[in-house]
Amino acid sequence: MQDQHTRLNASVECIRKFHHGTPVAGIVLGSGLASLADCLDEAIVIDGCDIRHYPQTTAPGHRGRLLFGKLSGLPVCLIDGRLHRYEGHDFETIVYPVRLMIALGIRLLVVSNAAGAVNRNYRSGDVVVLDDHINLMWGSPLRGANDDRMGPRFPDMSRPYDAELADRAMVASREEGLRVHRGVYLALSGPTYETPAEYRMVRKLGADVVGMSTIPEVIAARHSRIRVLGMSVVSNVAADEDDLAGTSGDDVIATVSRVAPAVGRVVAAVLAGRVPETLPGSTSSFLDGFADILCFAQNDRTVFRS
Ligand code: HPA
Repeated sequence: MQDQHTRLNASVECIRKFHHGTPVAGIVLGSGLASLADCLDEAIVIDGCDIRHYPQTTAPGHRGRLLFGKLSGLPVCLIDGRLHRYEGHDFETIVYPVRLMIALGIRLLVVSNAAGAVNRNYRSGDVVVLDDHINLMWGSPLRGANDDRMGPRFPDMSRPYDAELADRAMVASREEGLRVHRGVYLALSGPTYETPAEYRMVRKLGADVVGMSTIPEVIAARHSRIRVLGMSVVSNVAADEDDLAGTSGDDVIATVSRVAPAVGRVVAAVLAGRVPETLPGSTSSFLDGFADILCFAQNDRTVFRS
C-alpha cells in the first residue's frame, strides 16, 4: 500500500475537483452533533466515497462526508463521519480525515464528542471544555515509522488543548446559557459502555468524562502542531455506580442533539473571536495569526512541507 502521505495527496487532488478554498479550521462532529453542519454558510458537501482513499465509517449518527463552508465568515472544513476504534479501524485510518484537513491547510482543529460523566457535579446536556486527556485506547496513530514531514518522532503533549480557545469556548458557552465545565476526557476503545467498576476506575484515574473517540485525532493534530479545542457534551452521568441508570446509543444521540444547535453557535463564536478581545495572554486579534498560513496554503498544494 502507498504511504499515508501519498494517499493524502491523492485525496487532496480529488477534493480540488469540487472545492478550491483553503479551510482555516477543521471541525470533527461527535455523535448527535451533526446539526452543527446547519451553521455553515455557502456549504459544499463531498461524499467520502468520491474522495480516493477516504475511509468509510459505519458508526450510527456518523455519515461519512466532508463539508466545506464558512462559519463566522471563516473558511472551515467539517467532518461528518468520525471513525472509531470499535468499528475495527486502525489508528492511522481513524486520523485520516484529520490529516486530510491538515493537508488542506487548517491550523486549528475543533473536536467534539458525546461522553459519559463520572464527575458528580455534571449533568446531562452540560458542556465540558477539555483541558487534558488520558489515553486508555491502548494505541496511538503515531505508532510505527514516523513521517518527519508531518511532525516529530516524540511530540510534546504538555499542552494538548489550546488554553486561549478553551477560554473563548467557556465564555461563549455561558453566553449561550449552557452549563459548562473545564475537564479531563478519558478514552476507552468501546463499544461497550462502562461497567460500574470501570466508571469508578475512570473517576479514580482523574477523568471527568469518558468516551470512545477524540484522543487519536488530538494526537495527530498536535503532532502537526495544530491548535486544538476539545468539547464534550455530557449524554449520561455515572454518579452512583451501584445504581446506574443504564444508557444506549439512541439515548446518547437524543440527549446530545438537544444541545447541538447551541454548541454550534459556541464553535462559531470561538472562530469569530466575538468573545473577549482581551483574554489573558492573548496579544493580537485571533485572525491575525492566520495570515501567513493562508498564504502558504494557497501557494503550495503539496500535503506537508518536505
Ligand atoms: N461511556 C463511553 N462512551 C460514551 C458514554 C459513556 O458513558 N456516553 C457517551 N459516550
